[in-house]
Amino acid sequence: MPRRLLVRETVPEADGVLGIVLVDPRGTELPPWEPGAHLELRLPSGRTRHYSLSGDPQDRAAYRLGVLREPGGRGGSDELHTTPLAGLLLDVRGPVNRFPLVPAERYVFIAGGIGITPILPMVRQVAATGADWSLLYGGRTTTSMAYRHELASLGAENITIVPEDSHGLLNLDRVLSGLPESTAVYCCGPDGLIRAVEERCAALLPTGALHVERFAAAPGPAPRSEAGAFEVELRRSGRVLRVEAGRSLLDVVRGAVPSVTSSCEQGICGTCETKVLGGIPDHRDTVLSDAEKETGNTMMICVGRARSSRLVLDL
Ligand code: FES
Repeated sequence: MPRRLLVRETVPEADGVLGIVLVDPRGTELPPWEPGAHLELRLPSGRTRHYSLSGDPQDRAAYRLGVLREPGGRGGSDELHTTPLAGLLLDVRGPVNRFPLVPAERYVFIAGGIGITPILPMVRQVAATGADWSLLYGGRTTTSMAYRHELASLGAENITIVPEDSHGLLNLDRVLSGLPESTAVYCCGPDGLIRAVEERCAALLPTGALHVERFAAAPGPAPRSEAGAFEVELRRSGRVLRVEAGRSLLDVVRGAVPSVTSSCEQGICGTCETKVLGGIPDHRDTVLSDAEKETGNTMMICVGRARSSRLVLDL
């Protein structure tokens, strides 16, 4: 069930980045969350969007979000930047955490642009525990990079800020080479940055050391229309449906189970995660880790398809 929260205020966090502070209208404590978590917001227009929590989990009175205005985007960030939000009530689901901080002896954080939002609470938590950490933070210009001062207060000596206009691109080789095996690497930012980090980590670090979160779907191996047809069995009703090439599994399932939930429909939010009881999923999401995809226990049915002729879902 969504919770209705009040926009207490909005604050400029950087050029093009709007901070949104949400509170319970009755002043009660908000549900707890951990670094990496995000909220699903229903905007005044009815659009739903997902934004990482950037505040302090110890602060149970308010949720803080940072929203980058993307003029060429799908309209959600534009709407938030141009609507007078203070005083509005918004329906909110979550927090949900698909990007949890795992225990490690050392952390390397890499953030590009608005990708700093989930990283900030991680840095805050890790800095408080005394673990070894570093942050490499890139952005277009210094003034477009949110939370610089807050980060500096957590350990300026551990942070390298790289505005592209004056310092060029991030030197990934320098931060990712020669790391001890017990290092956890967290990266959030544009897809190009994430792919560059993935390539280096695949060569330099053990499997599972890298944790990433994307804000948009990564380019997939094949567009949906090229993927072949298959059958899906809905175990609870026993119905068997055909998913034609060019139709999504979610669309077909929704025809038989209208209550099935979805949100991003791009394989990035995790809302449509469904238990797989049989068959081999063809995962196309960026929510599950490689290890989770390997086990095939669940899948994101908004983008996923089948490698076997039939999939059996717990629906
Ligand atoms: Fe977001 Fe499927 S609806 S991952």
